[in-house]
Amino acid sequence: MRIKSIEEYNTEKSNFDNDPERFWEEKAESFIWKKKWDKVLNWDFHSAKINWFNGGKLNITENCLDRHLKKRANQVAIKWIANNPNEKSISLTYQELHAEVCKFSNVLKKHAIKKGDRVCLYMPMVPELSIAVLACARIGAIHSVVFAGFSAKSLSDRINDAECQALITADGGFRGDKITPLKAISDEAMQTTPSIKTCIVLERTKSKIEMKNQRDYWWHHEMASVDNNFPAEFMDSEDELFILYTSGSTGKPKGIVHTTAGYMIYSQYSFQNVFQYNEGDIYWCTADIGWITGHSYIIYGPLLAGATSIMFEGVPTFPDAGRFWRIVEENKINIFYTAPTAIRALEAKGLDFVKKYNLTSLRVLGTVGEPINEDAWNWYFKEIGGGLCPIVDTWWQTETGGIMISNLAGITTAKPTFATLPLPGIKACIMDDSNSEINENDIEGKLCIKYPWPSMARTIYGDHKRFIDTYFSTFPGYYFSGDGCFKNKDGLFRITGRVDDVLIISGHNLGTAEIESAIDEHNNVCESAIVGYPHSIKGNGIYAFIICHEHPLNTDKSNEEINKLIVKHVGPIAKVDKIQYVNGLPKTRSGKIMRRILRKIASGETTNLGDTSTLLDPTIVESIIKGSINNN
Ligand code: WTA
Repeated sequence: MRIKSIEEYNTEKSNFDNDPERFWEEKAESFIWKKKWDKVLNWDFHSAKINWFNGGKLNITENCLDRHLKKRANQVAIKWIANNPNEKSISLTYQELHAEVCKFSNVLKKHAIKKGDRVCLYMPMVPELSIAVLACARIGAIHSVVFAGFSAKSLSDRINDAECQALITADGGFRGDKITPLKAISDEAMQTTPSIKTCIVLERTKSKIEMKNQRDYWWHHEMASVDNNFPAEFMDSEDELFILYTSGSTGKPKGIVHTTAGYMIYSQYSFQNVFQYNEGDIYWCTADIGWITGHSYIIYGPLLAGATSIMFEGVPTFPDAGRFWRIVEENKINIFYTAPTAIRALEAKGLDFVKKYNLTSLRVLGTVGEPINEDAWNWYFKEIGGGLCPIVDTWWQTETGGIMISNLAGITTAKPTFATLPLPGIKACIMDDSNSEINENDIEGKLCIKYPWPSMARTIYGDHKRFIDTYFSTFPGYYFSGDGCFKNKDGLFRITGRVDDVLIISGHNLGTAEIESAIDEHNNVCESAIVGYPHSIKGNGIYAFIICHEHPLNTDKSNEEINKLIVKHVGPIAKVDKIQYVNGLPKTRSGKIMRRILRKIASGETTNLGDTSTLLDPTIVESIIKGSINNN
């Protein structure tokens, strides 16, 4: 199934062009199906109805686990490394992981969770998170993982949106020198989540917590008395596998829905080809399972491919900035996948932390989540890869389910800051402002995909209209990514960043609307506008322009209060870096904030602000510029 040479790559590209359905059908044939499909593809990008492998019946966990038992029962599937370097790591073989997943499936069943129910997971990066994810998939429940850095409010909003019946959490989570009180946060969230009937709590930090009778159950008690066999529920190809929330330009987060067969096929295909995974390789993706990268490239992709995958509980800088490299050395990692923000943060700590470790096991390096700047790319290539490892710059999204544009390690050309080319099977294109496709090279525009791919999102949970409006109406007949893209003279793609109001902060998507509404909760705030500005480590920093009823007497105190509200309503990742109190915001006559102007001011640009003639009150801009100079 893996493309092993540039000749095979070219053949695959032309196979796809000649017969796209046959191309994907051939990929699908290598999986275990209870019943094969009747039809490969039905699609319509206007109504956003996409079906892959209709009529097929399967369970993704049979493909992740059961099918490997003959050949690799005793091979490590997941090796978990604790936050604290002195705590013992845990390895689970395919056989052991299979048994744990079956056991937890039985626990879920005992609590009356059944096919189609939604289960929310709010957990630290521990093996039990992967076990719970897979157990949901095994019984046919839809998992909704919520990143353990989100606040009680964000958690309860997500639980309520999907009306989850159960919540799986832990007493607490270790991250660096901090403990996140996950159960206490869950308790607060569960005050406003009437759909939750059961909460299963993993003991991790041994923190003192409260357990509510008839609702809360300890993971280890539940697991003690169940069988380690559980026949997988057979799902339709298009049955929902999971929901994962991502921020939008406006309004509440969107529950992106992925379905079973297409997601499965594409996550294995992209994993094997992009990273050029070889049998026996040790693979490590540093993402959190709370994000799509963790779903597709810690859990599903590697397990489907029968790989040994490392799972790390902690953070890159604990106990010091050499932690990643120590893990690479100790585990002889061959394939390493991380985010530009981590690379920049570690680069800033100096080479001493790198030089101590032997990194020669590395063969392939990867990056994801935001554009990687040339300096960080070069440092990664030279200092981490020793100038020998190809870097795969992988562009994709929660909505795409898997990597869409990337070089294939060692097979196709890599170019610093370029994601390079769409994978065989992906038809990407660039659109101009008059909504037509630009076919020439050396141009810039908006990135779209014009043909369906198996792992594309199928809808936004409970709101198909929003799905159509967000992704399929800007350019009718195309999937619109929301990203800008430059195509160079050789036709290579370079992602230039979001063209909407989504901010990518340290590789995490945040919607301006969510943060603004948290700020607006402050008694003294009338209105606020959030924009991103270039930040040397985080990629983007957050700059808030705030109008107050009365100018705060003590701005430090006010700033602190505002950040506290953000932590409460969204989570610590959304804290703002800079706050400027202003008398007004640049608005058009129709009342829309012109963020383009604020973005320029926040980046320190005070001239060349572009056309301001449609502003209701252009003098506002002058006063904001003055204030920004004082603020920097
Ligand atoms: C950005 C993460 C440049 C992009 C997998 C996209 C990137 C958003 C890259 C999706 C990359 C992701 N180069 N930008 N290699 N990868 N992005 O949903 O703006 O968390 O739209 O999925 O991250 O973020 P999400």
